[in-house]
Amino acid sequence: MDTMEKIVALAKRRGFIFQSSEIYGGYKGFWDYGPAGVELKKNIKNEWWKTMVYEREDVVGIDASIVMNPVVWEKSGHLAAFTDPLVECKVCHKRFREDQKDTHEHNDWTETKTFNLMTEILLGTTEPKELSYLRGEITQGVFVNFKNVVDSTRVKIPFGIAQVGKAFRNEVTPGNFTFRSREFEQMELEYFVKPNEKTSKKVFEDFKETRMNWYKNLGMNIKKLHFADHTPDKIAHYAKYATDIEYEAPFGWNEMEGIHHRGDYDLKSHDLKYKDNITNEEYTPWVIETSGGVDRATLFFLIDSYTETPEGRVVLKLNPKLAPYKIAVFPLLGNKPELTAKAREVYQDLKKSFVVTWDDRGNIGKRYAAQDEIGTPWCVTVDFDSLKDKSVTVRDRDTGRQERIAIDKLQEYFEKRLK
Ligand code: GAP
Repeated sequence: MDTMEKIVALAKRRGFIFQSSEIYGGYKGFWDYGPAGVELKKNIKNEWWKTMVYEREDVVGIDASIVMNPVVWEKSGHLAAFTDPLVECKVCHKRFREDQKDTHEHNDWTETKTFNLMTEILLGTTEPKELSYLRGEITQGVFVNFKNVVDSTRVKIPFGIAQVGKAFRNEVTPGNFTFRSREFEQMELEYFVKPNEKTSKKVFEDFKETRMNWYKNLGMNIKKLHFADHTPDKIAHYAKYATDIEYEAPFGWNEMEGIHHRGDYDLKSHDLKYKDNITNEEYTPWVIETSGGVDRATLFFLIDSYTETPEGRVVLKLNPKLAPYKIAVFPLLGNKPELTAKAREVYQDLKKSFVVTWDDRGNIGKRYAAQDEIGTPWCVTVDFDSLKDKSVTVRDRDTGRQERIAIDKLQEYFEKRLK
């Protein structure tokens, strides 16, 4: 099995990611997150919100609707310009993005055509139904609420509006597991600044650093991360200039997050301005955007943390902040009621402060192996000595080291390690 096949198999085996509608053969470009996956994804989003909203003084959040008045997409340029170049194979009539031609066995292509990525939906009960769209980027929900946020809060330029949510694209060739999906989540900051080439460039550069550091601080391998500037043929219709943070996956270097200088494109399109209350100056702010893919970050954190021991055991070395479960609690033996009762007490107690899982099946070695594959940083075992000395064994995922810790010190022990 190659690395991607191993990751896909692990994701299914341990409840990270399943095919959507799997019992009916799946559905191309759509994925479901299982019990471990939903926790990992939530932790990624929470860490993002912490860094980009809570730890800053100049950012507020919103949660806009997925379906918006279709006029938004006309004004934003998405109906006209949110397209991918598409070619069709003359031999088998399959369609591909132009940049994926070399992945195909035949080499006889039609002329390039543009293909709009917006997902159409029909609303209403009377015919003809109203044509509308699932949002192709979460961003427009921020711009159309620009005035609402300015009027209802105390923000002053420069400031940012953050949002995390689902976006939909009718991708021509979904693939590479969740990497290119038709439904996915984005985590974005739109940062509004006074128009100025030099100062906005500085804000752009600062956000490049902030975002790169965020991935590094959560443990992503520095050697597998780099910036890739957008070339004129790749740049989106709304951007003045842009850079991607790319990750080196087993299927090559690929975009994980885009940092875009959107200039005044969007606010001007929606005819929105900002008035400085002190100077009475009115202008169209410029926008610096950081736009990360939650599913891509989830996939790349999974790939990046995947390790195999020389004996072939899989250990997911996720940063404890991202790990789906921080702690697993076991009774040494599942069929001894006195051990199980004590272990459940420890489990219930830790659950008040941490995300904790429980296992009493099979032998302890198998339980460790299962938790290693999920990436649980610590396993707590309640044994016969625990009943007497009120201590438990804490085993560390990465070192395999075991320590004896008093039950009433466990809370402090884990809090310190999760800081
Ligand atoms: N608002 C700007 C914007 O949407 P983008 O570069 O088109 O910019 C931002 O998308 C991020 O969204 C990408 O870097 C990627 O992580 C994620 N993304 C885009 N298309 C995706 C897809 N089809 N499947 C999964 N993630 C996707």
